[in-house]
Amino acid sequence: MLTRGQAKAIRLDIDLMELLAEAERERISRGEDGYNSDDGSAGVGEESEDEEHELPPLDPEFLRMIDELELDIYAGDLTDDDDAGSEGDWPDLSPSRSVHSLSMAADPSHNMLHPPIPTSSLNIQCSSTQKRKRRVRNQAQKDKKHAYKKRRRNVHRAETSHGKYDKGVSRKRVEEAEVVQLDFEADILPISSTGFQGKRTRSLFKHLTRNEVLARTIYYNWDATYDLVICDREGRGLVYCLANPRDPQWNTYVHPELCRILEKARVNGKFTAKEMFHRRGDYVAQTIGYSHGGGQTCPSNTKHSKRNAQVLQTLLSNDAVQRVSGLVNSGYRRFCPEMYAEYKANDEALRSSNPTLRKNFPDSVFAATTFNLGPQTVTPDHVDHGNNGPGGCAITSAGDFDDAKGGELVLWDLGIVIRFPPGSSIIILSAILRHSNLPIQPGEKRYSITQYSAGALFRFAANGMKNDKDYLPTATPEQVEEYIRERRTRWEKSLKKFTTYTPQP
Ligand SMILES: [Fe+2]
Repeated sequence: MLTRGQAKAIRLDIDLMELLAEAERERISRGEDGYNSDDGSAGVGEESEDEEHELPPLDPEFLRMIDELELDIYAGDLTDDDDAGSEGDWPDLSPSRSVHSLSMAADPSHNMLHPPIPTSSLNIQCSSTQKRKRRVRNQAQKDKKHAYKKRRRNVHRAETSHGKYDKGVSRKRVEEAEVVQLDFEADILPISSTGFQGKRTRSLFKHLTRNEVLARTIYYNWDATYDLVICDREGRGLVYCLANPRDPQWNTYVHPELCRILEKARVNGKFTAKEMFHRRGDYVAQTIGYSHGGGQTCPSNTKHSKRNAQVLQTLLSNDAVQRVSGLVNSGYRRFCPEMYAEYKANDEALRSSNPTLRKNFPDSVFAATTFNLGPQTVTPDHVDHGNNGPGGCAITSAGDFDDAKGGELVLWDLGIVIRFPPGSSIIILSAILRHSNLPIQPGEKRYSITQYSAGALFRFAANGMKNDKDYLPTATPEQVEEYIRERRTRWEKSLKKFTTYTPQP
């Protein structure tokens, strides 16, 4: 009697049945000759001759099982699962199923009965099933791994911050921030007449050496261990230097990982001359997200070659990059909550109107991210006039360079230079504050990540998701009047959205 395992092997190759039948005949034949008897040797020769002409009958139980297996193969019920391997996946040999298989077998028109047996198609079905199962299994493993890492991270954060992640802590950090008040009025910053953007200007101080710049400015030796808010005369916070998280991993893992992934992105990407040499300097820059302006009829996602899109997607999904995004997003919400709320509302309105717009990071309110991949990301003085005029632009510095001798952020309108340690972030009004970096030393590497939103996005949303040229011809006189008033007062209203700070005595 065959075992279950032996029977399972049979169904994989129908030819085996014939071999087994042969073997069974031989077994019966030997049993009749007195295979186990010492006396039977004399008659072996005679009986062997008879066997060639008259085969002995096969065991009825064996024949029944062979029939069932044959039906299984022809009916295709054994093709379901080769990789299951468990007892629960054993084919059902119940009488009802056998009857069904038998009725199919009795029908001569049934194509499964006629050779050739489609063994190749059986294999394809198995392979497809296996692939599908493997995909599901892999995805489940990935989700599980992601959830596990997230849990570990949260536990680690809670341990290292002594459970201080709540609104109270955020308020406390604002209160504890170092505030510097400058003798300067934000009202006079060069913003466009509509208040949505900055004004395009050319570089004015490109020719100055490091020492010449330092001689003209005040140096703030910020080391990223505390929050620093720089205000105008009225106490309006215009620049936010964000302290690095207290998590010791920030310096041992996040920043090194940032450098690694940004360097890898530059090496693996394929860039045009325009992406490597541009008005902001001679370094590779790639922007991803959504934007508006420059002749576009409506906000749209940035476009990339297939290769660069993969590189950018790798960057966006990187854990260190996501933590940087989280840091600047929460920093902006903490230090400028009203403006943050405006960014959030605008982002939600635009994406609700057009769900295809890409969101780089789940919790970020910024529409676009530029990865400045170096190898020496150093910019001459400029304004990013296309960005939202009163809005923030978060800059994160990274790289292997001596931050006491290069890479500092120069804010020309404020007359200050801020030390910008690698791994730290500063939020500025990039559309209206002229800014640049001091050069780093030969052989050093510097990268940066900037997060921002175009001013045209806010204008488009303010018009009820229309461009000016589409909105104005159809607007009522009252709407036109409101349109003009809104633009004339936007900057003034925005100034009121900046949180005011008082320097500590
Ligand atoms: Fe800039």
